[in-house]
Amino acid sequence: MFKSLLNRLHHYFKLHPILFCIVVLSFGITLLIFVSSIYENHVRATVSYKKNDLVENDVYPFAKMRNLVMVAGHSVYTSSDCGKVDKEDSWFLESYQKNPGQAATFLSHIQEGVKAAAKDDESLLLFSGGETRKDAGPRSEAQSYWAVAESKGWFGKDDVRSRALTEEHARDSFENLLFSVCRFRELTGSYPQNITVVSYDFKEERFAHLHRSAMGFPESRFFYLGTPASLSSKEGALKGEAMVRSQFQEDPYGCVGSLWRKKLKRDPFHRTIPYPNGCPEIGGLFRYCGSAPFPGSLPWDYTRLA
Ligand SMILES: *[C@@H]1O[C@H](CO)[C@@H](O)[C@H](O)[C@H]1NC(C)=O
Repeated sequence: MFKSLLNRLHHYFKLHPILFCIVVLSFGITLLIFVSSIYENHVRATVSYKKNDLVENDVYPFAKMRNLVMVAGHSVYTSSDCGKVDKEDSWFLESYQKNPGQAATFLSHIQEGVKAAAKDDESLLLFSGGETRKDAGPRSEAQSYWAVAESKGWFGKDDVRSRALTEEHARDSFENLLFSVCRFRELTGSYPQNITVVSYDFKEERFAHLHRSAMGFPESRFFYLGTPASLSSKEGALKGEAMVRSQFQEDPYGCVGSLWRKKLKRDPFHRTIPYPNGCPEIGGLFRYCGSAPFPGSLPWDYTRLA
């Protein structure tokens, strides 16, 4: 077969020597262009890989921060007037949240978070919470809290502003914690030494025990700042909390049943969650679903005694 091909080529060469040369030449040039473009792409990929490497190793914007202060979001601020942050009708409230004094509790979470961060200049303050309310439009709880802190002049602690950022995807309290730890790694290049969570006092057991142990984070480096619920909402809040807590007891990672369905409802705008990009070391924790604690190893395992 190869021989017959050669014979045929020879025949064409004899018949149209010039045309034959042109065809062979253009075939050769095409091949050359093809090969060189593959080579170029390869070189480019290698170069950009090196660039990423550089970013990974050297230039995290908050590489000096060692501790995380996380304020868990509960609502989205919807008023166009920043002067009314402590009024209920400035916030998007679910029916169970519509109580006098509710807005003031959000404000005190923000203030507590800023105060805690101000006391520790190695801390990064993260407001955490996604675009959870359809009727509030595509604005996140985290952005709302940051904007409120800004409108309040950071409660006189101006230096906190440059260390206060957002985690904009969490749909429940476990995600507030997990996603913020991932965000911390993304911003600093490492995992927090100490974690301080700011939320309602009646959620302490949920955060400091259930969520913290689901993440295998050492108790000695976990702190909780709780503020009271508004008086009128207290009874309902405690009942609701008991129910959610028992759901998390059975489903600590919130990945099946009602906790899972609640998360889907709290994502009306179908935001793609970027994590565990930014925190590859704990990717397993993001993928894990089970009622027993995550069995894999975690970056803070080795520092439990530190
Ligand atoms: C973490 O908290 C403990 C207890 O308050 C403290 O002694 C330690 O210095 C903190 N670590 C960092 C890195 O701030």
